[in-house]
Amino acid sequence: MKTREQKKLINFINVIKEKSTFSIGYPFARDFDYTELYDLFQYPIANVGDPFIESNYAVNSFEIEREVIQFFAGLFRAPKDNYSGYVTSGGSEGNLYGLYIAREIYPEAIVYHSSEAHYSITKNIRLLNLRSIEIQADSKGEMDYDALEKSIEQHRHLPVIIIANIGTTMTEAKDDIPTIRQILKKCSIESYYIHCDAALSGAYLPLLEDDPRFDFKNGIDSIACSGHKFIGSPVPCGIVIVKKNYKERLGQYISYIGSQDTTIAGSRNGHSPVFLWYAVKKLGREGMLLRAQQSLSMAIYVQRRLEENNISCFRNENAITVVFSKPDDQLCRKWQLATKNGYAHLICMPGISKNIIDDFFNDLLKTLPVSNKNLLGNACPLT
Ligand SMILES: Cc1ncc(COP(=O)(O)O)c(C=O)c1O
Repeated sequence: MKTREQKKLINFINVIKEKSTFSIGYPFARDFDYTELYDLFQYPIANVGDPFIESNYAVNSFEIEREVIQFFAGLFRAPKDNYSGYVTSGGSEGNLYGLYIAREIYPEAIVYHSSEAHYSITKNIRLLNLRSIEIQADSKGEMDYDALEKSIEQHRHLPVIIIANIGTTMTEAKDDIPTIRQILKKCSIESYYIHCDAALSGAYLPLLEDDPRFDFKNGIDSIACSGHKFIGSPVPCGIVIVKKNYKERLGQYISYIGSQDTTIAGSRNGHSPVFLWYAVKKLGREGMLLRAQQSLSMAIYVQRRLEENNISCFRNENAITVVFSKPDDQLCRKWQLATKNGYAHLICMPGISKNIIDDFFNDLLKTLPVSNKNLLGNACPLT
């Protein structure tokens, strides 16, 4: 490489390092170390087609991908003999896949999702040309179940597709699957499909809770989770788990690849299953639980510091996201804080140290007048 480009590259690497230090507003774990996998960057690993069927292209990581799927199927208590899925490009693709399967089963259905659903949900609904109804979320981000019931009741002649948030983007609120299923029962809906968008929380909540209320044992049909969020990966990726008998509706044999085309993308990233596999094997459930507990402790610490300084804030149950009144714009830019309707959030991802949090507070407190630490407002309502 020429000297000019070399300099540009070195500069770019330094900028990434610097920006990464001040990233506390978006859910990217940074405590991963995949150096043992560097040799694999010399190979064009691509997973083409269904991971459960060997395809013609053999430079793939299907076997490792299957182990990743098996791990997450276990985490989400999927039926042992009736699960499938694959490693996606991220949570958004997993949501598309869940909705795609749901539409293949119930083409006439109406999709119900809350006003706090991730933007990939509305985009995917448009892509699939589905009918949908948005249900208002409460001030902490959870679906309004009375509104859901009323809406389903009005359209009870049509099948229902529910998109449940298991950790909303801004407040990490969770919709309650047992309550939603009670509503479906009350409205005598027999044809329904429940997909969970568990982009962030899916990878750690099942470790903290004995009976996670959003898994297959609680009646869901599919679930999507991001891989680069809680687990951590240098490239975005995700996991989607579905019931196997549903997936079989999608499959089309393609002679060019010698396999079934049951995924959204054609050639899929073959390295990302290896990152996820390496992380879950190295950490194990115990190591992952420890990281979740550390993130929770950090979130409790952040909340306490905000409260001590009279800064209006809240945190949903078992959430590693702390919501607080939006600080000044410059601070939001420096610390890459996502904001909405006058509030911001800080996500205590694995790899964010207490020193970083303390540095953030030093900056934050400097923006408050000494005489009035409550400048940042009274409440953090979503509405
Ligand atoms: C609730 C929720 N769903 C889906 C996504 C999309 O995930 P990805 O960025 O992995 O596509 C996000 C990302 O922040 C999210 O917060």
